[in-house]
Amino acid sequence: MTLAIVIMAAGKGTRMKSRHPKVLHRLAGEPLLGHVMQAVRALNAPQTIVITGHGAEDVEAYLREVDPQVHCVRQMPQRGTGHAVQQAVPALPDEGVTLILNGDVPLIRSATAAALIQACQGRQLALLTLELADATGYGRIVRGADGQIQGIVEHKDATAEQHRIREVYTGVMAAPTRWLKQAVMGLNNHNAQGEFYLTDVVAQAVAAGLPVTSVTAADETEVLGVNSPAQLADLERRYQAQQAAALMEAGVRLRDPARLDVRGSLVCAQDVEIDINCIFEGHVQLGEGVRIGAHCVIRDAVIEAGAVIHPYTHIDGHGQPVRVGEGSLVGPYARLRPGADLGAEVHIGNFVEVKNSRLDTGAKANHLAYLGDSTVGKRVNVGAGTITANYDGANKHRTVIEDDAHVGSNCVLVAPVTVGAGATIGAGSTIGKDAPRGQLTLARAKQLSLPGWTRPAKSKPKP
Ligand code: UD1
Ligand code: CA
Repeated sequence: MTLAIVIMAAGKGTRMKSRHPKVLHRLAGEPLLGHVMQAVRALNAPQTIVITGHGAEDVEAYLREVDPQVHCVRQMPQRGTGHAVQQAVPALPDEGVTLILNGDVPLIRSATAAALIQACQGRQLALLTLELADATGYGRIVRGADGQIQGIVEHKDATAEQHRIREVYTGVMAAPTRWLKQAVMGLNNHNAQGEFYLTDVVAQAVAAGLPVTSVTAADETEVLGVNSPAQLADLERRYQAQQAAALMEAGVRLRDPARLDVRGSLVCAQDVEIDINCIFEGHVQLGEGVRIGAHCVIRDAVIEAGAVIHPYTHIDGHGQPVRVGEGSLVGPYARLRPGADLGAEVHIGNFVEVKNSRLDTGAKANHLAYLGDSTVGKRVNVGAGTITANYDGANKHRTVIEDDAHVGSNCVLVAPVTVGAGATIGAGSTIGKDAPRGQLTLARAKQLSLPGWTRPAKSKPKP
């Protein structure tokens, strides 16, 4: 059976009080629409149509980035959800099933959507519904004395009695495509909002004798819509609570599950411990026994077994993932930027910044240093305050520090430059030429002491 998917994403989202289209507001770091797209991807529909309108250019640019296959149809102006689906009619096939989703209901699960398609079977109208403790704002499912669905009434059009109905329409339905196409073309806008309601197709189905059935959503979180900043924040917390629960279920020890944010994917081996207020973004992988201190922000990184990340460390591997090797110690207050690649047992201490640099086994930079575009050998020690001057104002150059070299405090290594294996660089040196292996290299003014020198005295004030 041919499956077509329609995602409605043209609405303004007035209640967000934002300049940006609602479906691009982020939940767990990803636009709402992105979550919906991800949920439907597993359904492998040959055709996915997204209805865009408000902020269409931005929404379409985002979609091109995440899924160039998706077909966008513009709805101008936006006259309701029924009007939105009308725009998709010319693009829909004549056969099969159409699954319709709201772009602002982000946490819908693939399995639930699949169950709805199953219930529809190409012969029935299937609605995803749920009983909510607070149904305010949602369309209510009106059932007859026999329990059969008679229609959906929008909150703004509902009577006081209908407001007491707890069963709501979640914004997701599956319908026989051929029937749907003619049903949406027959909608009117005679209602409180003067809009064409998609939900009115339900009463049409009942009138036409098309069976209407419902599927109950697995839980509230998957059907909550985002209409306001408060709802967005509420859903974010619910989503994060789910992520935390899943991690703990897998054995991860979270000091406080309420103070963890995963904005992407976090994959953990055994015996990982995470202290409070950590944020994980993009794809992060933590090896066995890894410990993450409080207040760390970690994006796109692989942290290998036994490594310890001390508090307040910022790791950002966006574009070029960061690797922290086995048993390494990083932080507190360290910053690893894209392309930082630490081998085993490396130590990176407070206020040390590493960018696009490879540090081999046992290398150390414990205090106040900058290593950029450098290759640092085994057991190298980089002194406090030492930096690689990798940028000449136009181009970046590499610094190579070979195995067992020792760079004293407060040195400037002006790239391109190589410090040979086992070399020692005296503190305070500015090194612009290669330093030979095994030798002490100093590049600073000789220390002088002047015997008999006296401090100038204050001249006597004139009488
Ligand atoms: C809609 C349903 C309501 C349901 C709720 C679930 C209708 C009439 N009502 O109400 O029964 O309980 O979702 O969350 O369908 N959109 C367009 N074009 C438009 C208007 C809206 O594409 O002209 C899109 C929006 O971007 C949004 C979705 O449709 O993604 C839902 O629109 P919204 O205005 O939020 O509908 P609700 O009032 O929440
Ligand atoms: Ca909504």
